[in-house]
Amino acid sequence: MCGIIGYIGKRDATPIIVEGLRRLEYRGYDSAGICVAGKKEIDCLKVQGKIKDLEKKVRKASLLRGKLALGHTRWATHGEPSELNAHPHWDCKKEIMVVHNGIVENYRSLKKKLEAEGHKFISETDTEVLAHLIEKYYQGDLKEAVRLALLQVEGTYGIGVLSSLEPDKIIAARMGSPLVVGVGKDEYFIASDVSPLLAHTKKVIYLDDGDMVVLSKKGYQTLDIKNHTIKKKVEEISWTQDQAEKSGFPHFMLKEIFQQPESTRNAMRGRLLLKEATAKLGGLNISEKELDNIKKIIIIACGTSYYAGLIGEYLLEDLARIACEVEYASEFRYRKPVLDKNTLVIAISQSGETADTLAAVKEAKKKKAKTLGIVNVVGSSIAREVLGGVYIHAGPEIGVASTKAFTGQVTTLALLAILLGGRRKTISEERARELTSSLDRIPLQIQNILDQSDKIKEIAKIYKDHKNFLFLGRGYNLPVALEGALKLKEISYIHAEGYPAAEMKHGPIALIDKNMPVVFIATKDDVYNKVMSNIEEVKARGGRVLALATEGDKEIKKKANHVIYLPKTLQALTPLLAVVPLQLLAYYIAVLRGCSVDQPRHLAKSVTVE
Ligand code: G6P
Repeated sequence: MCGIIGYIGKRDATPIIVEGLRRLEYRGYDSAGICVAGKKEIDCLKVQGKIKDLEKKVRKASLLRGKLALGHTRWATHGEPSELNAHPHWDCKKEIMVVHNGIVENYRSLKKKLEAEGHKFISETDTEVLAHLIEKYYQGDLKEAVRLALLQVEGTYGIGVLSSLEPDKIIAARMGSPLVVGVGKDEYFIASDVSPLLAHTKKVIYLDDGDMVVLSKKGYQTLDIKNHTIKKKVEEISWTQDQAEKSGFPHFMLKEIFQQPESTRNAMRGRLLLKEATAKLGGLNISEKELDNIKKIIIIACGTSYYAGLIGEYLLEDLARIACEVEYASEFRYRKPVLDKNTLVIAISQSGETADTLAAVKEAKKKKAKTLGIVNVVGSSIAREVLGGVYIHAGPEIGVASTKAFTGQVTTLALLAILLGGRRKTISEERARELTSSLDRIPLQIQNILDQSDKIKEIAKIYKDHKNFLFLGRGYNLPVALEGALKLKEISYIHAEGYPAAEMKHGPIALIDKNMPVVFIATKDDVYNKVMSNIEEVKARGGRVLALATEGDKEIKKKANHVIYLPKTLQALTPLLAVVPLQLLAYYIAVLRGCSVDQPRHLAKSVTVE
């Protein structure tokens, strides 16, 4: 949600900033801007639109060349997407420029005061008050002016500031919105996440809330908002630049779908113990006694991670017999959840930065619950806020619609359920063996589904022009139906609803006609016959059925219009397979409709505002 990049060093800053913005674009893409500082002046360019539009403008205009610059790609919160509202934002004298990710919640009152003092505003954004506040407090020390300005701010920020008054430094600060410092050789960076840094350095400093940093060509100084110097650890990033490329795929989303044999394998690596028929999770940071005393689990997450959480609920209740609830992180804080030290709160998040999930973790900690994270991005805010956790090791996920993170999260939840089930003796040794060996086969079975991608593309051609879809599933496959519908909505803008198959007769059945395709997840499990009856009900009303079925099921071919076959696995692991054709279906339909697959309209990959 908004991407920030800053550079100070010996090189021409503009290409570094533009390339960095391209890598951050998944965070927001309605407008973008860059500012470059020369010896005495600052030059700035902004566009409404994407980074490629900014790039064109930069090429045409003769933007000042400098070795110090900031860039921003925006996901609008305050003020419509427009050139005027694009960042960076100036002060009155055009001496100070600010890029910002987050929300200044008290910007109205600050703006009113500043206007009364004679400041003139030109945009509708909350960010512009930051530039004016810094101007107000500037008395020959930019760092101090930024610090004093930030003390006035309520809300969240990750900011970068530069000024023609002190054109040898960048000041950055973080409160609630992610910001990393890249440490190179005689050059330094700030960025909203590590993806734009990979090409330049592997050394990073993760800023915490209340941290500030002053970057110059010669080094950096870290301090807190109270002006105390602080020491921060320089950490090494393990992701590589190659992982953040499309590698010959037309879209990141397709690449990430096709990476799932490898990413699910990575989630299990060193954790799935086949010989012992159990799982080992090293980072839980909870003693065995505490683990055995857990009476209730609450999973909190948003979006696709929430649906992975729903599968986690089935797994944990089925295998470990622990009462489990799944909550939208955004709702969790505003209820009065009953938590105590024997409650385990698991936060699931690909980015580790989702503001609602982070806030829910903080709330859970306040209420003394134990907190665990299932997170992809190492060093992210949620990963650092929880007591312990498990990284899913999916590698960078750049397509806005989440795919490999989902299967990585479900794989991790399966490992956790097997581990807890084994400890509590709620699964027999035989079942544990079946589960672990079946989980071990999942990556190969996903590959088998990917090998059918041409067939799924053909099916996509048949269904692509429909305006509405229904996705139905039961039991373990209900969350898959919800996720299948979400994928289609997100990237193809087709209205799709996920629903429990058995609930269809209580409402959605009224919608069925030849224009409403129904996607059934009808694998051979203990609700198979009931789902088959639901298929009959749809057919009897003239509906079209696309079924996901278990290989070898001939019966379903007679009923459904189209069938995609999945390899056989245990019912508890079916979601890991069933979701893959639905990701591909959504992908191909979106491509056929000419949609922007990796950057769907209005969405952002990492939602760092509440
Ligand atoms: C956004 C993204 C979704 C994602 C959700 C939760 O809405 O567009 O793809 O599932 O945030 O993100 P998280 O990083 O917490 O998993």
